[in-house]
Amino acid sequence: MIAVLLWLSVSNASAQGLKDALGESFLVGAALSVEQTTGHDSLVTATITQHFNCIVAENCMKPEALQPQEGQFKWRKADRFVKFGEEHGMTVIGHVLVWHAQTPDWFFKDSVGNTASKELLTQRMRTHIHTVVGRYKGRIKGWDVVNEAFEDDGSYRQSQWYQILGPEYIELAYRFAHEADPAAELYYNDFSMSVPAKREAVCRLVRQLKEKGLRVDAIGMQSHNGLTWPSNEDYEASIEAYAALGCQVMITELDMNVLPNPESFSGAEVSLSFDYSEKMDPYKNGLPADVEQRINERWIEFFDLYKRHSHQISRVTLWGVSDAQSWMNDWPITGRTAYPLLFDRHYQPKPVVDDIMKLFKK
Ligand code: XIL
Repeated sequence: MIAVLLWLSVSNASAQGLKDALGESFLVGAALSVEQTTGHDSLVTATITQHFNCIVAENCMKPEALQPQEGQFKWRKADRFVKFGEEHGMTVIGHVLVWHAQTPDWFFKDSVGNTASKELLTQRMRTHIHTVVGRYKGRIKGWDVVNEAFEDDGSYRQSQWYQILGPEYIELAYRFAHEADPAAELYYNDFSMSVPAKREAVCRLVRQLKEKGLRVDAIGMQSHNGLTWPSNEDYEASIEAYAALGCQVMITELDMNVLPNPESFSGAEVSLSFDYSEKMDPYKNGLPADVEQRINERWIEFFDLYKRHSHQISRVTLWGVSDAQSWMNDWPITGRTAYPLLFDRHYQPKPVVDDIMKLFKK
């Protein structure tokens, strides 16, 4: 028994993973849930460490997790996440400092419940960023400083940050983050980054920030992709456009949806939600072979594109490890059976993992 266990652990340690095949091209990352960083399940840990050399926290570094009440920071889960990365020699990425979602309402209200003043909100932003980035100074390679500042038509999202502070809130966030850890890389992250109007808005913003002398190292394309969306041409044009700004391109939240989309649905707005129906959950008992083949082709299309653009792309991060844990099971409809990741519900690599590795060995 002991001999078998020993053999298993040795064979796992030496087994080739995605990071070995793709690692010369870019960092290969995964977003981890809180449970995945506990180390409780050795199969989960073995899969993560065999295949990934970079991690980001799926939820535990968001403002609502770190500062649920003003001045009361909760570090336990985030500390464990960072330690997990360090213990396994991984690059650790921070997500996220300024966002409209998963940010407690107290940020935007004064002590009597009225809308916070500009001064108060600015001070709270400074305190949050300085405290969080400061705590992990030197341990986190880079931060998603601002997430999802634009609508798909290129207009500014009317978040509470925007409504109270105006578009300058973005600039403030980059200033504070740089003050807190001058060596940390700073990123702008968003979804639907292939949509031309949004692409133009992001390029304009990043150009302005750079003109003001602010640091923006990378642009994150979330890439919650699907079988028919985004168009490969638009997606590729965005990689080129972001790289042309002198930024690294990061694929930050990759997954591949095969489930039917509700009408009027697009993008990855987390607050969207639609009613469950059997019709919208067609693959409860497994994927039909033709759908599986189509999704595999799609994975290869994207990884082929990443390979061709590897001189511009510095990281490809999947938004989760196993289908069992993906947010897509509950978004934008709760309780579906989704197949958006590269590892099945038992943390076994899908056959396409091997195909992706072969693609990079060619
Ligand atoms: C998602 C998480 O995966 C879910 O667990 C959570 O309930 C909502 O947020 N864009 C982002 C991520 O930048 O932080 C979101 O993560 C997915 C969309």
